[in-house]
Amino acid sequence: MSFRISGDVRVPGDKSVTHRALMFAAAAQGESRLSGLLPGEDCRSTAAVLRALGCDVPPPPADGSEIVVRGRGIDAWRAPAEPLDCGNSGTTSRLMMGLLASRPFASVVTGDASLRGRPMRRITEPLASMGARFRELDAPDRLPIEVTGGGLHGIDYVSPKASAQIKSAVLLAGLGARVPVSVTEPALSRDHTERMLSALGAPVRTETSADGVRAVLGAWGEPLPPLDLRVPGDPSSAAFLAALALLADAGELRIRGVLANPTRTGFFSLARLMMGLLHWERGRAVGGEPVSDLVVRPSRLKAVQIGGDDIPAAIDEIPVLAILAARAEGETRITGAGELRVKESDRIAAVVAALRAIGAEAEELEDGLVIRGGDHPLRGRVTTHGDHRIAMAFGVLAALPGNEIEIDDRQCAAVSFPGYWELLDSLVRGG
Ligand code: S3P
Repeated sequence: MSFRISGDVRVPGDKSVTHRALMFAAAAQGESRLSGLLPGEDCRSTAAVLRALGCDVPPPPADGSEIVVRGRGIDAWRAPAEPLDCGNSGTTSRLMMGLLASRPFASVVTGDASLRGRPMRRITEPLASMGARFRELDAPDRLPIEVTGGGLHGIDYVSPKASAQIKSAVLLAGLGARVPVSVTEPALSRDHTERMLSALGAPVRTETSADGVRAVLGAWGEPLPPLDLRVPGDPSSAAFLAALALLADAGELRIRGVLANPTRTGFFSLARLMMGLLHWERGRAVGGEPVSDLVVRPSRLKAVQIGGDDIPAAIDEIPVLAILAARAEGETRITGAGELRVKESDRIAAVVAALRAIGAEAEELEDGLVIRGGDHPLRGRVTTHGDHRIAMAFGVLAALPGNEIEIDDRQCAAVSFPGYWELLDSLVRGG
């Protein structure tokens, strides 16, 4: 059966930019106007946590319409009455711990079972060396954690990982405490925090040296000004639709207004290396970030070798890249991706198990996976472990005519892409 794709669509707002926009607006002095925010559950968690701290932050509206955040400055934040529930959102918990480290009160940060299983010392150790205090209330290195902030001093932190959450936690602690900080990471992780700070006039800069990439925030005593921002479409969400188009038999898909920050577009570059026909059009700048339309055409994909340097810009897209690899000619090997084991699920184990469960060939490496491509129909049931990106990645294969794939939990896609299944369905039906 042949499948023709045609469509001109948009995806919901970028998750990373939405989290940061909400946090900055809540820490600013004055009225911020934000539109195109991701209404996914992760970003609703950030808004709810900020409200629990006394900030006037409405939940991001389902239709992406504008909200106004009346910020009274970070000094107006108050100790929360209850533990701060970050739900499934690692970014909420880790960036908020950075901001909370600068506040002179105690708060407890917690989340759902998946988030309570993820490592936190990567954040609490640098923040503790700035002077914040942390109490692990349940298990070592895990939420719930009580943060008692205030009295911070600056730090030049050398991070062992290219992680935007580690980098941002330290930068935000420096911002809140008005002390100078720098973070050196082995390779540049997504740089939305630095770009947003720079757009707001903060003394932030990036230096590249033989040791890695260093983000520097100078001491900045001025109140944070409000933002006026339209959040561009999430490239991590666009990747699923692009994968569907690459695996179609004919036609073309256009995805408008996608965030095209080079620290986020690794999946698209790798898909091109796999001989995928996709390109960017109408590049422009919005709020200090590059934005473009993405045009994707069905392609005969070839296997690719993916190593450590490729990983940071494609970190959240490895599950969907594995889907392309399962339908490409040849053997794809992905290495240097050990961080995938501590995402919303162990994504190496989850992807390999799901590929095998539907009759594809894959095996685990300690820090990656090997996938042998094929073109026979795929059948079986996928266990998502409640991980939104596993559900959506395998949803692409499930949507392709000829396959018979059941996904055990489709609801979890709402974490980052509300409306995903409806949009996928409409593209497959040609609606
Ligand atoms: C994010 C950083 C990445 C990414 C996550 C969002 C962010 O995590 O996987 O989905 O918004 O800063 P790490 O910093 O742990 O790599």
